[in-house]
Amino acid sequence: MDPPNLPLLLLLTLASTINAQFFPAPYCGSTGNFTADSTYQTTLTALLSSISTTNSLSLKYGFFNASATVSGASQTLYVIGSCRGDLTAESCRACLNASASDIRDLCPLQKEAVLYSENCTVWYSNASIFGTVTTDPVYQLANVNNVASPDTYNAALRTLLGSLQGEAAGGGSLRKYATGNASADYNKIYAMVQCTPDLTEQQCSDCLVTVVGIFGQCCVGKLGVNIMAPSCRFRYETNARFYDLVGEPLPPPPAPPPPPLESGKSNSTKAVIIAVATSVSVVLVIGIAILLVVQRKKKQPRQRIEEVDEISTAESLQFDFGTIRAATDNFSDSKKLGQGGFGVVYMGQLSNGQEIAVKRLSQNSGQGEVEFKNEVMLLARLQHRNLVRLLGFCLEGVERLLIYEFVPNSSLDQFIFDPLKRANLDWDRRHKIIMGVARGLLYLHEDSRLRIIHRDLKASNILLDSNMNPKISDFGMARLFELDQTQAETNRIVGTYGYMAPEYAMHGNFSVKSDVFSFGVLILEIVSGQKNNLFRLGDSTEVLTSYVWKCWREGTITNIIDPSVTAGSSTEIARCIHIGLLCVQENVADRPTMASVLLMLNSHSVTLQVPLHPAFFIHRGAESDVSSTQDYSSRVSEVESNHLLKN
Ligand SMILES: *[C@@H]1O[C@H](CO)[C@@H](O)[C@H](O)[C@H]1NC(C)=O
Ligand SMILES: *[C@@H]1O[C@H](CO)[C@@H](O)[C@H](O)[C@H]1NC(C)=O
Ligand SMILES: *[C@@H]1O[C@H](CO)[C@@H](O)[C@H](O)[C@H]1NC(C)=O
Ligand SMILES: *[C@@H]1O[C@H](CO)[C@@H](O)[C@H](O)[C@H]1NC(C)=O
Ligand SMILES: *[C@@H]1O[C@H](CO)[C@@H](O)[C@H](O)[C@H]1NC(C)=O
Ligand SMILES: *[C@@H]1O[C@H](CO)[C@@H](O)[C@H](O)[C@H]1NC(C)=O
Ligand SMILES: *[C@@H]1O[C@H](CO)[C@@H](O)[C@H](O)[C@H]1NC(C)=O
Ligand SMILES: *[C@@H]1O[C@H](CO)[C@@H](O)[C@H](O)[C@H]1NC(C)=O
Ligand SMILES: *[C@@H]1O[C@H](CO)[C@@H](O)[C@H](O)[C@H]1NC(C)=O
Repeated sequence: MDPPNLPLLLLLTLASTINAQFFPAPYCGSTGNFTADSTYQTTLTALLSSISTTNSLSLKYGFFNASATVSGASQTLYVIGSCRGDLTAESCRACLNASASDIRDLCPLQKEAVLYSENCTVWYSNASIFGTVTTDPVYQLANVNNVASPDTYNAALRTLLGSLQGEAAGGGSLRKYATGNASADYNKIYAMVQCTPDLTEQQCSDCLVTVVGIFGQCCVGKLGVNIMAPSCRFRYETNARFYDLVGEPLPPPPAPPPPPLESGKSNSTKAVIIAVATSVSVVLVIGIAILLVVQRKKKQPRQRIEEVDEISTAESLQFDFGTIRAATDNFSDSKKLGQGGFGVVYMGQLSNGQEIAVKRLSQNSGQGEVEFKNEVMLLARLQHRNLVRLLGFCLEGVERLLIYEFVPNSSLDQFIFDPLKRANLDWDRRHKIIMGVARGLLYLHEDSRLRIIHRDLKASNILLDSNMNPKISDFGMARLFELDQTQAETNRIVGTYGYMAPEYAMHGNFSVKSDVFSFGVLILEIVSGQKNNLFRLGDSTEVLTSYVWKCWREGTITNIIDPSVTAGSSTEIARCIHIGLLCVQENVADRPTMASVLLMLNSHSVTLQVPLHPAFFIHRGAESDVSSTQDYSSRVSEVESNHLLKN
């Protein structure tokens, strides 16, 4: 929903004794009104009243959806109702039925509306709302009181939310809901996260990242918080379990016809009366901005799988050298996909038909066999749809091979910098690529059990699968080559000019924020179709990032958008440029983390800071097209990543 008139991010500060009096919270949309007593109204009323009679399976799990075409008009109406996951089918139906009637009173003619109440949300629109992540309007409540020791508390909360988020997102198509508790000093934290079950796992995860991100900006350190969005919600309280425990088999099937509500009157004050009468003590929140990051992966199940894997991994990941030699026609030149600093990459096909990419490491990694195996085992566990999957390795004498999944559509640089092929990337595809790379990078930085700093993120390291989904390649090379993973100065710089953050290029200091810098350059390249280190304007050579910043400041960003991008939301493009500029800030602390980048990309209601002039530095090789790496102490090690392409 995109409603300038909806009060977004309304923040209520509550005393610790609370407060169903803050419900119901209606948001009447501003996109347009229908005519009173029209077929539109009749259709809407009919849809909403079907809540009290439907016996769909999903309602038993707390979710209602319905849609209908308004006869005589080319309009479809969509309604979603969702209950908190611990409600019984009967209470859910009663809550939705009551909210449905309230919302008609409170927003009589609006084509879109959302009504939040303590236990359920009713939402309708004339635009399709099924299966879409909608985080506006947000309703947030926060306790005025602060926790005593925020560090311990936030660490415990963050871990708890991380696992709940994965559990909820992976919950299946009937219910995406999770609750849990954690201890922090003498306090007990109770938390609940939920998405509407029409979302996919990834969408649910995105929605929760957004609402938890909003929490990070408003309310960190408070004793309790409740944040509601149309597609998902999140709440925690201290020392008060506010949800009922749901038994393992989900709600009891067939509900008898629900009893009538205690209050029969249909007017706008009814729900308030009910709400106050049934008020449950709620403790809610406010705060300062610290971004809590939610882990995307289901923690528990994953760990269990990994333990089982442990026994067999080394063997199952190790490929026989002969097999790989056969798969690549004895490493024949005709199978060569690319040549990089770490070695040549070949395409291969296993006897079962599976296509693979084989990187034949040319350098001595400086590691013994055992360390090498261990690293590969760790990297092979990093699995994310936006990472190129490492399938295994092969050791034979001095030969060290890494076996990857084969990604068919070559790499991003082959498209965006190619005068003809760039036309294959319309704005939607480019946007999808930006989002995918951001997700993959967030996973490397925050969500995987290893904290991986890529150190060489660039367009040629973004491979594209058959649907043009991006997959980050060459992550973890720094680990295999025994380069420190923590933020540290290093005298061995691995990276590519044009993409390297200044503190990394000049002092060897790398951190997640140096990857963020590279990501910012990548966004600007994707939008403009220009290479950062080769950008030319008339006679003068200027770095793309500076030029973009100037245009941004002068309000002429249309100048920098790739002319082959002919359609697409101009606000979305402008927002991407803005985020790109924030990522290439000179000062490390001014650059956002990948978690905030995703939040900014996902939620248009998050205000962006004004970027300063981006980091600017020139080096001798600025004219050269070759990515280079430089060793500041002695050796030079070139890193040109594997392209996995045929030409
Ligand atoms: C919803 O209604 C508004 C106002 O009448 C209209 O501008 C908009 O196009 C409609 N949306 C859809 C998807 O029909
Ligand atoms: C649904 O709400 C309406 C209006 O409040 C009420 O008249 C009706 O009895 C309710 N139906 C059920 C099944 O709760
Ligand atoms: C409810 O939503 C699902 C998608 O999540 C859709 O397939 C189904 O048609 C919807 N039901 C109705 C009645 O519109
Ligand atoms: C829609 O109706 C509401 C009252 O129901 C009114 O306040 C609002 O101004 C109307 N909006 C438009 C665009 O007509
Ligand atoms: C706290 O969580 C554990 C599982 O992590 C659960 O067994 C226990 O019942 C929960 N306690 C309460 C009071 O909810
Ligand atoms: C919300 O649900 C809880 C648990 O079922 C219940 O105790 C409470 O009374 C409900 N609140 C309202 C306003 O109905
Ligand atoms: C593979 O190539 C190497 C050198 O390129 C050669 O020595 C070897 O005999 C070849 N092996 C096979 C099986 O063709
Ligand atoms: C990507 O790969 C698929 C299958 O390999 C192919 O059909 C498609 O045309 C490719 N897309 C582009 C833009 O090259
Ligand atoms: C590089 O990192 C070190 C600590 O690892 C720090 O002392 C130094 O100031 C950093 N230098 C720059 C230029 O950021």
